Amino acid sequence: MRAVSINGHGGTEVMQLVDVALPTLAPDEARIRHTRIGVNYSDINVRRGGFYPTSPSLPSLLGNEAVGVVEEVGAEVEDIVPGDRVGYVKGRGPFHSEPGSYAEYRNVPAERLVRIPSNVTDDSAAAVLLKGLTAATILDLSYRAEPGQTALVHAGASGVGSILVSWLSALGVTPLVTVGSPDKAEFARERGAAECILYNKQDFVEEVRSLRPDGVDVVFDGAGGDIFTRSLDVIKRNGALINYGNAAGRVAPFDILTLAFKGAIWVTRIAVQHSDIPFYRRSMEKILRFVADGTIKPHVSRVLPLAQAASAHELIESRATMGSVLLVP
Ligand SMILES: NC(=O)c1ccc[n+]([C@@H]2O[C@H](COP(=O)([O-])OP(=O)(O)OC[C@H]3O[C@@H](n4cnc5c(N)ncnc54)[C@H](OP(=O)(O)O)[C@@H]3O)[C@@H](O)[C@H]2O)c1
Repeated sequence: MRAVSINGHGGTEVMQLVDVALPTLAPDEARIRHTRIGVNYSDINVRRGGFYPTSPSLPSLLGNEAVGVVEEVGAEVEDIVPGDRVGYVKGRGPFHSEPGSYAEYRNVPAERLVRIPSNVTDDSAAAVLLKGLTAATILDLSYRAEPGQTALVHAGASGVGSILVSWLSALGVTPLVTVGSPDKAEFARERGAAECILYNKQDFVEEVRSLRPDGVDVVFDGAGGDIFTRSLDVIKRNGALINYGNAAGRVAPFDILTLAFKGAIWVTRIAVQHSDIPFYRRSMEKILRFVADGTIKPHVSRVLPLAQAASAHELIESRATMGSVLLVP
């Protein structure tokens, strides 16, 4: 089959379209013919190397999310049959050391497959499964947002950020967002953002402080770096800072006493891959329900051929995208 592989870590030049053999199907797996492959920032981190505690052995395929059609099932698989339209996030092994979705086919443990309802398109599902599972990990496991609260969502037009904005709004939380451009502000507003701060041009700490002098209840941060550190100055006493990503860089080590001086702030860093199978399945089904009932509005910035996976990475790294980027095998 055709697949995109890396033979080293670095820029997009390490990505190559290759011909590889699909492994033999294990008894608990189904073979999926991919129709859409979701591109995620974590794929870029795996390609660059040096971000995660472990790396795949090279050469390695990339990718952890796809939608497709079941072609064959292993002897132990009971509730999935050939012809089912399914989606999944992650294969059997760890996210960052055993990826493999940038390919025409993948053998996936059946317990990770969810059926895609007939009123959800392949594009919509592939746009939101991993990013929605991240939002579920944040809002159902890490921070229970309450109606009436105010949240700040950084990069509010990003894949995960835009889902958080829609979800928070549906919960009765007022989302303020930071975004990199007026187009992104419009996009976030359509999903329920009450105020949009252009953080490349405006000082987001000053802007939030003028909108909410006492601070916000919680900040959701997929940017990291300096944006994380500065966010400590816009949070109410006993509020929370939930970091889930590092698009702008790693967070510098800090003295835990800082949290006391800033108002006893709760801080966590979530990781989507630690969810157990019951939570994973419940959340994936919830995300698909949210798509079907309009709570989440998937947006696909670009659909590119699998062979142009490197261009997909470049688009995302240049901050040119809103919502998701997909590949077609
Ligand atoms: N913890 C987990 O398990 C988990 C799961 C999924 C994703 N993540 C992480 O969450 C982050 C966001 O993921 P996503 O899918 O929402 O990504 P995405 O759609 O590609 O969005 C990333 C956005 O971050 C903003 N950004 C700020 N500084 C940036 C910089 N220096 N370079 C590039 N972008 C920058 C940009 O928006 P503006 O132009 O508006 O600033 C950009 O569009 C990533 O770091 C990803 O690895 C973590």
